Amino acid sequence: MAYMTLQPANRPPVLVVDDEEQDRAILSNILRPLGYAVETAANGREALARFDAIPVAAIVTDLRMPVMDGFEFLRALNGRPRFVPTIVLTNVGDVGQAVSIVHDLQAFWFLEKPARPAVLATLVERAIKYGELHRGKELLERQLSQQGMLGEMAGNSRAMRQVFDLIQMAAPAQAPVLITGESGTGKEMAARAIHRLSPRSSGPFVAINCAAVPADLIESELFGHEKGSFTGAVARHEGCFEQANRGTLLLDEIGEMPQSMQARLLRVLEESTIRRVGGTGENPVDVRILAATNRVISGTGTDKSLRRDLLYRLNVFHINLPHLRERKEDIPDIAKAIIGILNEKHECSVQTLHRDVQRRFASHSWPGNVRELRNVLEWAVITARTGLIQTWHLPKSFPASRERAVAAPSPLSDGAARFALGRNLKDIKLEYVEETLRSVNNDRRRAAQMLGVSLRTLYNWVPESRKTVRAGS
Ligand SMILES: Nc1ncnc2c1ncn2[C@@H]1O[C@H](COP(=O)(O)OP(=O)(O)OP(=O)(O)O)[C@@H](O)[C@H]1O
Ligand SMILES: [Mg+2]
Repeated sequence: MAYMTLQPANRPPVLVVDDEEQDRAILSNILRPLGYAVETAANGREALARFDAIPVAAIVTDLRMPVMDGFEFLRALNGRPRFVPTIVLTNVGDVGQAVSIVHDLQAFWFLEKPARPAVLATLVERAIKYGELHRGKELLERQLSQQGMLGEMAGNSRAMRQVFDLIQMAAPAQAPVLITGESGTGKEMAARAIHRLSPRSSGPFVAINCAAVPADLIESELFGHEKGSFTGAVARHEGCFEQANRGTLLLDEIGEMPQSMQARLLRVLEESTIRRVGGTGENPVDVRILAATNRVISGTGTDKSLRRDLLYRLNVFHINLPHLRERKEDIPDIAKAIIGILNEKHECSVQTLHRDVQRRFASHSWPGNVRELRNVLEWAVITARTGLIQTWHLPKSFPASRERAVAAPSPLSDGAARFALGRNLKDIKLEYVEETLRSVNNDRRRAAQMLGVSLRTLYNWVPESRKTVRAGS
């Protein structure tokens, strides 16, 4: 047979899992002559023990087995840090089941029984190559993170390396992650990195800003509604949970969610089912939850905004993003990464920061954290267009000295907001509010404090897109 002619010796070990001794023998007899070292197991539990003991490069497994069946075995494998591709043997004609195994349980591929030797040989070879590429990517990712990058996230300080380690540790698991940190420190970016590095990366990433949704709409935004369930519900609506099915849902500003909704959310997390507003049945959802807040989390909990029981449920993994002022050594790396993105966005070719700019950046306290840095750089890149960013390319409002840096900026202090008589009060209010937001680099919490209103009121005045959905790459 043609496939028998390519027979390099010393191929990596392959694990064959089947409860029928005869089937194990048939599969082994196909693979061994091709040079693979074959390990065998009679059920999922034995297979896991083999997997943990031997660095197998691919797995061929049956589904129906006593003790631990193939489904449970695949689920257990997904929780292991080492990725090994799995080929599942299915019954003839069971394509629907096979597709869901590949999709839901992340199997590499399926093969109808009895396996044709040539097909099995090709699939095993491909699976091993795929596994090598996948592990190579993971290694590269790890190496990059040691060099101060995790995806698009930059930072080489000790604090950020710890954050990168935690992200990598949390990514493969199913458990919720609570991400805390001041406004603009990179919470959403960290959430996207967790999704991208997780086995759900090919599913959707959905982010909802709980502060931006009016309290009476949050239930329908999260869980969806049936047509006619309330005035204005003209059609059936899918909520965030359903949109994020098989992917990741980021509940941003979770502390702003009304307490009654927090209680419902807790139930959803425990039962993995949702009920649409006006609906009768429970719909199962498969969503990984990430939550973010810029409120302080102490050993005993947050301030009163987050229910204690929900906090315990979400706080399985806690990642805190440090302020930029505590890790100023990250500024050159972050600036480099952001300049690269901005060059592309604005078709510029700025290289780096002049020494004087670096000095000014180092003495600034960055109350708006990385978002403020990005805003300053965006102005500077557009102004400089090429070469070095010099001090005269920085926005005029950028503080020249440490003293000015800590003073809270006032929208009126530079005369930016002066209004002619006879204008509509509503327009003036909006202009004033927007000017205030600009003056604090769009830090809504600070702007709300300065204006003396709640965060929710500010969102009502100046809405922001509440939700972003991204299909997996
Ligand atoms: N480590 C980093 N490297 C490069 N860019 C970063 C980094 N951290 C944050 N940014 C950038 O800074 C900006 C703010 O980040 P992000 O939106 O993730 O912050 P946040 O903590 O969610 O803010 P908020 O609390 O206001 O919602 C984004 O443009 C993001 O791309
Ligand atoms: Mg955010």
